[in-house]
Amino acid sequence: MKSDELLALFLRRGVLWPTAEIYGGAQGLYDYGPLGAALKRRIEDAWTSWFVGLSPDYYRIEPAELLPEAVVRASGHLENFTDPEIVCDACHTPFRAETVLEAVRPEGVDGLSVAQIAEIAHANHVKCPRCGSEALSVPAPFNMMFGVDFGVTGKERAYLRPETAQNSFLAFPRMWEVGRHALPLGVAVVGKAYRNEIAPRQVLFRLRAFTQAELQIFFDPEHFDRPIDPFRDVRLPVLRVERRERGEETPEFIRAEDLVASGGLPAFYVHHMVQFHRFFREVLAYPEESIRFFEKSEKERAFYNKIQFDAEVRLESFGGYKELGAVHYRGDYDLTRHAEGSGKDLAVTVGEGRSVLPHVLELTFGVDRNLWGLGDLHLRTEDARTVWHLPPFLAPVSVGVFPLIAKAHGAYAQRLADDLARAGLTVQYDAASSIGRRYARIDEAGTPYGVTVDAGTLDEGPEHDTVTVRERDSRSQARVPVGELVGRLAGALRLPRPPRI
Ligand code: GAP
Repeated sequence: MKSDELLALFLRRGVLWPTAEIYGGAQGLYDYGPLGAALKRRIEDAWTSWFVGLSPDYYRIEPAELLPEAVVRASGHLENFTDPEIVCDACHTPFRAETVLEAVRPEGVDGLSVAQIAEIAHANHVKCPRCGSEALSVPAPFNMMFGVDFGVTGKERAYLRPETAQNSFLAFPRMWEVGRHALPLGVAVVGKAYRNEIAPRQVLFRLRAFTQAELQIFFDPEHFDRPIDPFRDVRLPVLRVERRERGEETPEFIRAEDLVASGGLPAFYVHHMVQFHRFFREVLAYPEESIRFFEKSEKERAFYNKIQFDAEVRLESFGGYKELGAVHYRGDYDLTRHAEGSGKDLAVTVGEGRSVLPHVLELTFGVDRNLWGLGDLHLRTEDARTVWHLPPFLAPVSVGVFPLIAKAHGAYAQRLADDLARAGLTVQYDAASSIGRRYARIDEAGTPYGVTVDAGTLDEGPEHDTVTVRERDSRSQARVPVGELVGRLAGALRLPRPPRI
């Protein structure tokens, strides 16, 4: 589906809409309606269950979204969290330098200095993408954080967190006490991050307020035994830097063991790439051929990273691969910076009295981008019907309950809907229009099951106390005893979890 078609469908079904729409919207801000909010919660819960479920020593916390200035100074965000900006002197539109140079430098401007960007712009006579003027400003770094006055004096500064990760670093000493005094220790945050993006665009892809799900795994660099053996033969779709430099865009499928043995990657890193890949495949059901792990070179990596592979998925709506998450090896960068900034010793004592400043492996995941990805990859038009083939456990509504004829079967169906809701299922009762239309409505909303109450249910005959259960993907219909309904549906809606290694 093209992006404008997908957006139109999302708007029509109330999945999302622009914030402050009656005022013309606000760039880079979207609100989620009932379907979107429910789907987003399901994605967050599935992420938490999978990644926090990797170890009993991994925890999810809920920290504040505002950070004192000292934190972002120490973390390097005040100095380095910038995007080069070019302003058109004719129409005064600000652009990301990457956008202005797109035609002459499709690989982007990561790692280039502003002087190098200026040189490329000048040499290629690049023009303003909006008005076509060549009168462009010299590129300048633009800090993407939102700063706010903090407190009543207006003299203190705070910042809306640019990444949820910072809270986990700040929480580390407390979590060490709360946990079992053992490494690895995982601290996860799912919540809003804020970036004053120069050019918000592509709906949920470049937002100014978005949701990240991030797990920081603090580990002892001398002992981080995450085995590769169980995954030895798993082939990961990887696009390494050398292959990219040869102009290749498609990934190679490389055995996990080979990525360690001859690919020079640490076993703990590859282990978590596999876990990430499995989440994409087994939970979000992204097609294998759409996924790739895109290695960033030393120049392109975020300033805090030692190893970075972006988890990318090919989306029809945007005509190419898009970054939906990443695996970052941040080393001891963050704890070193925060130890210096706060004056607190953040090293911990392990084993036989050895003092260790933990290293960090970060698994980061963009919730909004993946919500869009689930629309792009699983919404299909079939026989003039739109069906959202969401994995059943992610569907915002699990089951639709319908009386075949409202007057005759409504009371029974309403009671049944209440019973299913009491049993913990998300239920939509719908008595309006033909049964075909009702099925079509739930197909489009991704609801995996429709339950219809009809004359047979109420008769004394052989179909007494049975209902028709219709399955979204196959459209098959089966008579099921009402007493077995909760058990059958709950089984089909169970969330996959990773096996503990
Ligand atoms: N803690 C590491 C970090 O923040 P990042 O690559 O800047 O790394 C992580 O962001 C993820 O957050 C991305 O993979 C993407 O899914 C999501 N993300 C980043 N900027 C975003 C934006 N402006 N709008 C929507 N999602 C965004």
